[in-house]
Amino acid sequence: MPACYPIGEIVEITLVAPAIEINSVRKSFARGAAVLKRVDFSLQHGEMVALIGASGSGKSTLIRCIAGLLSIDGGHGGETPGCIRLFGIPMQEKGRISPSASKLRARVGVVFQQFNLVPRLSVLTNACLGLLGQIPRWRGTLSAFSRAEKLKAMRALARVGIAEHALKRGSQLSGGQQQRAAIARTLVQGADILIADEPIASLDPSSARRVMDILAQLNREDGITVLVSLHQVEYALAYCPRTIALRDGHIVYDGPSSALTTSFLSELYGAESEELFLPGLDDSTPELTNGRDAVHASQAAMGAATFAQTQ
Ligand SMILES: Nc1ncnc2c1ncn2[C@@H]1O[C@H](COP(=O)(O)OP(=O)(O)OP(=O)(O)O)[C@@H](O)[C@H]1O
Ligand SMILES: [Mg+2]
Repeated sequence: MPACYPIGEIVEITLVAPAIEINSVRKSFARGAAVLKRVDFSLQHGEMVALIGASGSGKSTLIRCIAGLLSIDGGHGGETPGCIRLFGIPMQEKGRISPSASKLRARVGVVFQQFNLVPRLSVLTNACLGLLGQIPRWRGTLSAFSRAEKLKAMRALARVGIAEHALKRGSQLSGGQQQRAAIARTLVQGADILIADEPIASLDPSSARRVMDILAQLNREDGITVLVSLHQVEYALAYCPRTIALRDGHIVYDGPSSALTTSFLSELYGAESEELFLPGLDDSTPELTNGRDAVHASQAAMGAATFAQTQ
């Protein structure tokens, strides 16, 4: 495939290729052992997939590599170098971010656990920042957005339920509202893929459910492909049909979330599995509890879950 893609070609590739394709990805940091070790998977368009794993398993590193914010290793010891493609177009390969990355980044919305908003700017302006990359740089720098652009941002803020906070500063929003504003920014951006790195890790259960509900709604109604890393498996069970589980930089499971029972997770993670369950689930999280119960009920029907190739 050529390094640059004419628009017509991009449209054509987009229709046939997976939304996200990760092939033999390895990532190490200077002088350190590999954090990601031959990771392989793909997401089809319109999937909503959870990425789970204990602290340090490599979730954020993988997400940053997919978003083209970190480069993966080149060929190692004669191995074929890995590559990451979005819509069939390389985001990076042979250890280099590819020339098509900036165009691809415009189609990928990334939401982090924290520091998503510019604190001193209004929530409306923060949402408008989703247009960066599509408008002249000077307009972004001066926050010079047109009425139509602001209207678009207002619609996105309304969609995530925080339109009434549009004129507040980013720093004045609660954690959950900030996450919703960050999601609104990806809507303004027009992202086809939304990657969220532990977007609910620092939220109370009700705010966490609200954020997950919005991600699920955008996936269902707009067909946005969602990859969301989660520390707690209950949310994966309740919201994501498929889960990819990382352990020490390897994929140890890739399949239906419903197969992730407590005993299966103990098998996959040993003592680390305790980290993956919410402490003291109670009636305040009914849908999560129901999700877990439904999973337990379906456990027998599911049969043995498939271990990934790395096992
Ligand atoms: N910039 C870096 N330089 C060196 N090592 C790093 C760097 N970033 C991450 N690591 C290491 O890579 C490993 C995986 O980290 P990563 O942040 O991807 O894990 P994680 O699964 O996201 O963990 P958490 O659940 O705590 O967020 C860790 O051992 C971490 O120390
Ligand atoms: Mg992380």
